[in-house]
Amino acid sequence: MDFSIKSITPEKQRTGCVVVGVYQSGKLSPSAKAVDMAAKGYIGDILKRGDLDAAAGATLLLHKVPNVVSDRVLLVGLGREGEMTERQFRDAARGALRALNETQAADAAAMLLEAPVAGCDSGWKAEQIALVARELAYRFDRFKGKPDTKRRSLRKLILGHGGQGSDLAAERGLKRGLALADGLALAKDLGNTPPNVCTPTYLAEQAKALAKEHGLKCQVLNQAEMEKLGMGSLLSVSRGSRQPPKLIVLQYTGTDRKKKPVALVGKGVTFDTGGISIKPAAEMDEMKYDMSGAGSVLGTLKTAALLELPINIVGIIPTVENMPDGNATRPGDIVKSMAGITIEILNTDAEGRLILCDALTYAERFEPVAVVDIATLTGACVIALGHIASGLFANNDALAEQLIAAGNYTGDRAWRMPAWEDYGDALKSNFSDLANVGGRAGGSITAACFLARFAEKYPWAHLDVAGTAWKSGKDKGSTGRPVPLLVRYLIERAGSR
Ligand code: BES
Ligand code: MN
Ligand code: ZN
Repeated sequence: MDFSIKSITPEKQRTGCVVVGVYQSGKLSPSAKAVDMAAKGYIGDILKRGDLDAAAGATLLLHKVPNVVSDRVLLVGLGREGEMTERQFRDAARGALRALNETQAADAAAMLLEAPVAGCDSGWKAEQIALVARELAYRFDRFKGKPDTKRRSLRKLILGHGGQGSDLAAERGLKRGLALADGLALAKDLGNTPPNVCTPTYLAEQAKALAKEHGLKCQVLNQAEMEKLGMGSLLSVSRGSRQPPKLIVLQYTGTDRKKKPVALVGKGVTFDTGGISIKPAAEMDEMKYDMSGAGSVLGTLKTAALLELPINIVGIIPTVENMPDGNATRPGDIVKSMAGITIEILNTDAEGRLILCDALTYAERFEPVAVVDIATLTGACVIALGHIASGLFANNDALAEQLIAAGNYTGDRAWRMPAWEDYGDALKSNFSDLANVGGRAGGSITAACFLARFAEKYPWAHLDVAGTAWKSGKDKGSTGRPVPLLVRYLIERAGSR
């Protein structure tokens, strides 16, 4: 779909459909008022009949509105009069785009930028509209004989505003939204790809392709190279698999190459059976999403490259498959991590931390200004926060606050949980320096405390996205989260709003 931003007189714009907002009270937005004036009160009369539902995002499609040049007028509910919440704005945009997609209109002009949203400028609004439009258009039908749904007619969307000249903030917001949508689509595609296709080798190939497309530097370490580095913890996870493990290192240089980078470390377990501590059969297919952290790193790098963000980023992806086998790691095995810390593996299903700890140690060589790891790490995090917020843990308050703010901006929210040393006591082992599990209580916290032991040399944060990276049930699929949060964090960090 083709997007543009234009100064528009809604009643005079020649399109398949012009979209104008109305409030619950029946009050009209400025553009709805203009249409109503041209149509001599037609809109107001219709609203009095009460056919438009009160909620934000409700819609009513009108045809042949008198004195209006467009073929159709779509009324969209904006909720209660006054400033909208961010959620209401997204609902309104989603409602409008869904309704537009139901029509045969090939082009449309939506007057949503004029709706006031508390604390948000037109750049934010344009970004959100682009994101919602692309989210609704996303399909994953690579493995289907024929595409799921009929082709949509809508090919052109004008984001109209009533002001004079150009709206620079909106232009930039639109550009951000479209680049972000591309990164999100990559993360979703990788998450949705079945585990017999999306293996560690496949992820490495995807990373190389991304590097080629956007001029990034890509290095892939194989098993022998990781053995040399002493990554005994990471390698213990892939022992039971026929798929060779990989460590993917991607570097994006957006500014002076001497500037220290931000490191993003993504968990890339392409399938998690649990290993010898095998998982129950029900819904085990969903463990193909256990590489979502890795997917979000690749998606974020894609968007950063598209936006040419003036910042340096290194993406580090430890990727393995966790399988049971005669050669697999046993509960009770003790392994030595690259940091020299020995680990007693009490549960082979707590494998994410085992690959991440070696990747966190490896990250030290880049002297990063900050390290953020992203992992579908614990079922306990899903119990604690559900599917709305990602769990955030950090050894640095400023970094935690920046990530929370970035999540709030994009509606990809994170909620901070403690990673106090007191919790780490649960990881004591009688036989090694550290155990890989700490019991059921506070499971996502003890997991974070495990990682914290390997992240003492730099400001570090950990995002547990087990509850947010994908959806179960009818709409099963990858969400691409937390790509929006990460991209926003990098934009702010680069100072390139
Ligand atoms: N990949 C899982 C975490 C997970 C579970 C993500 C459910 C999404 C939904 C992780 O490797 C795992 O198995 N964690 C264990 C840890 C436990 C053994 C301490 C868990 O959460 O049960
Ligand atoms: Mn597991
Ligand atoms: Zn896992």
